[in-house]
Amino acid sequence: MAADLKNKDLYLVIGGDSFIGRRLRIYILGEHKPVLWTSKRKGSSSNMYLNLDQEKMVWEPPHGVKAAFFCAAKTSILECEKTPEETRKVNVKNTLKIIKMLCERSIPVVYLSSSLVFNGRICYPDESAKISPVTEYGYQKTLVEKELINMGPAHNIVRLSKVISNDYPLFQNWVTRLKQQKEIEAFCDYYFSPLSVGFVSRTLFDIARLQKGGVWHISGNRAVSYYEAALALAETIGVPSKLVVKKHAEKILDKVFLSPSTVLKCSRLESWFGISAPDVMKTIKNTVKS
Ligand SMILES: NC(=O)c1ccc[n+]([C@@H]2O[C@H](COP(=O)([O-])OP(=O)(O)OC[C@H]3O[C@@H](n4cnc5c(N)ncnc54)[C@H](OP(=O)(O)O)[C@@H]3O)[C@@H](O)[C@H]2O)c1
Repeated sequence: MAADLKNKDLYLVIGGDSFIGRRLRIYILGEHKPVLWTSKRKGSSSNMYLNLDQEKMVWEPPHGVKAAFFCAAKTSILECEKTPEETRKVNVKNTLKIIKMLCERSIPVVYLSSSLVFNGRICYPDESAKISPVTEYGYQKTLVEKELINMGPAHNIVRLSKVISNDYPLFQNWVTRLKQQKEIEAFCDYYFSPLSVGFVSRTLFDIARLQKGGVWHISGNRAVSYYEAALALAETIGVPSKLVVKKHAEKILDKVFLSPSTVLKCSRLESWFGISAPDVMKTIKNTVKS
């Protein structure tokens, strides 16, 4: 392996056991590039242990890294809301410490941010739109973004809408019930703009290879309610739509989670790669087709 690494572009995934990080490192390997990744899990197949919850982190970036993807984070909106201090330590303070170490080695960073840096009231915000988060999770992302921008032009901030895969637990559960002709309930006033994790992995890698830096948006092409998504799943597996029952999130969820829009304008993806935002309905239906 060591000899291989000298001759090829080496990539690093911070948080290689995360949902996106796992798929990303498999994608990079499929592109015949060597990849190292960190994990905080004992017994992970990772080559490097890294826990962002420690006061003193004993870690050094490896040599020869072409780009580092930052995927590790406390990703629960509710946990960030309930324990802002604890989650900020991981998501902001220690994230920035590791990013500074990468900068000192001149390693460009691809930082995974979120559509939740916006308040959801602007329709299709582009990469230059003013950020104004409503959630603590979104606020923590903005704190890292602001520091990263000041660290130089080589770094990439990638804001993502919701990322899903074939084994998205909510859809799996719905499909199992629908196939048994059982009713499911889905929110008609709670929206998302789903993207497939395969598309996200490929695009993250393209962004890292391009080495242009700056802010990028990766988003589904429109906002769709969970009710609409459930109807699409019912249609795809050929069961009656009456099995999908409307439910109102407004009555159950805290206001902070009910962003009116989650969709982003992906201007730079279009101009640099000629890629349009993927169709959300195709993404949803593909989860049961493959
Ligand atoms: N998935 C999405 O829809 C989405 C949308 C927008 C933005 N993003 C962003 O994309 C990134 C990856 O998201 P994801 O959904 O793949 O995340 P995820 O599956 O929730 O995984 C988060 C990873 O961070 C690790 N982690 C948590 N606390 C840590 C700590 N103290 N030290 C080191 N690692 C720690 C977790 O370790 P364990 O595995 O050991 O728990 C896990 O591997 C995140 O920054 C997220 O905010 C994701």
